[in-house]
Amino acid sequence: MGTHALEVKGLVRRYGARAAVGGLDLVVEEGDLYGFLGPNGAGKTTAIRCILGLIRRDAGEVQVFGERDPVAQRATVGAMVETPRFYDWMSGRENLRLATLYAGRGGEPDIDAALHAVGLTERQRDKVRGYSLGMRQRLGIARALVGKPRLLVLDEPTNGLDPRGMKEVRDLLRELCRRERLTVFLSSHLLSEVQSLCNRVGIIDRGLLTAEGEVNALLAARGLKTRVEIGVTDRRAAVEALGRVPGATLIGDGEGGRLVVELDRLDAAGLNRLLVQAGVDLHTLVPGTGSLEDVYLQATSQEAGVSG
Ligand SMILES: Nc1ncnc2c1ncn2[C@@H]1O[C@H](COP(=O)(O)OP(=O)(O)OP(=O)(O)O)[C@@H](O)[C@H]1O
Ligand SMILES: [Mg+2]
Repeated sequence: MGTHALEVKGLVRRYGARAAVGGLDLVVEEGDLYGFLGPNGAGKTTAIRCILGLIRRDAGEVQVFGERDPVAQRATVGAMVETPRFYDWMSGRENLRLATLYAGRGGEPDIDAALHAVGLTERQRDKVRGYSLGMRQRLGIARALVGKPRLLVLDEPTNGLDPRGMKEVRDLLRELCRRERLTVFLSSHLLSEVQSLCNRVGIIDRGLLTAEGEVNALLAARGLKTRVEIGVTDRRAAVEALGRVPGATLIGDGEGGRLVVELDRLDAAGLNRLLVQAGVDLHTLVPGTGSLEDVYLQATSQEAGVSG
């Protein structure tokens, strides 16, 4: 690989005697949808603030597309950290316009595109005072997008969104990655979200990265297999067919009456094909969270926010 989209080395941030981030190393490749997972108080927001240069770091190095200069880095990064703040008496659009002026990049067409991408076109002229939590979150993502960044850094981007809003944000991020070759680094508590969205994950616990890699590789390294959940109309036929499909093992019941299936040297598409060949139709096939949950539980400690 050439230069990485983001490379963090030995990042340290202390609050008093306590290290909120205690020597963090991570690498995000261009085009990655990288999920940064960790329990409450693990140091995700602190790490993101340090990476963005919003707070001082006590040690460590951050490179963005090979660039070390924090001012130059800003030209390629769009970000949203925790709950975004706006000027309440201004409209959503005016807030975005202000952001482009501050940043010195992005014009009216970029504002239109960002508003459209987050589904706020209709409400763009309303004052932010009247926005719901989810609308503010969307506006925050739009603000991160207006400068046409190459790297998007989002701290819990689906926080406060309803299920439809969460799905829309996931779809949007996927599309941006694919179409614009944007790199996304996002923190999340939601294992299912990360498993369905991200190609790579890093797990932070007490300020240190305790696991990092491609989701499937992380599972394989721990001897864990990929799980999927399938929804079928004929449950009995499905159970029977699964007994005959090589590489698929029925584990138990999932949400909403779905069956949880563990895969071995078989991917979701392969499972679908084999089941259809066996005369079983699937109406749903979703990534199972169980296996990433196992990795997460292994890689994190029990108590929240007890670093240092
Ligand atoms: N301004 C601050 N002053 C003192 N301690 C702080 C400050 N900000 C964060 N911390 C501490 O640093 C640690 C990491 O906090 P941080 O907010 O980075 O965690 P997080 O992983 O983002 O958690 P969450 O999932 O709850 O958002 C915690 O122990 C927290 O109490
Ligand atoms: Mg946080």
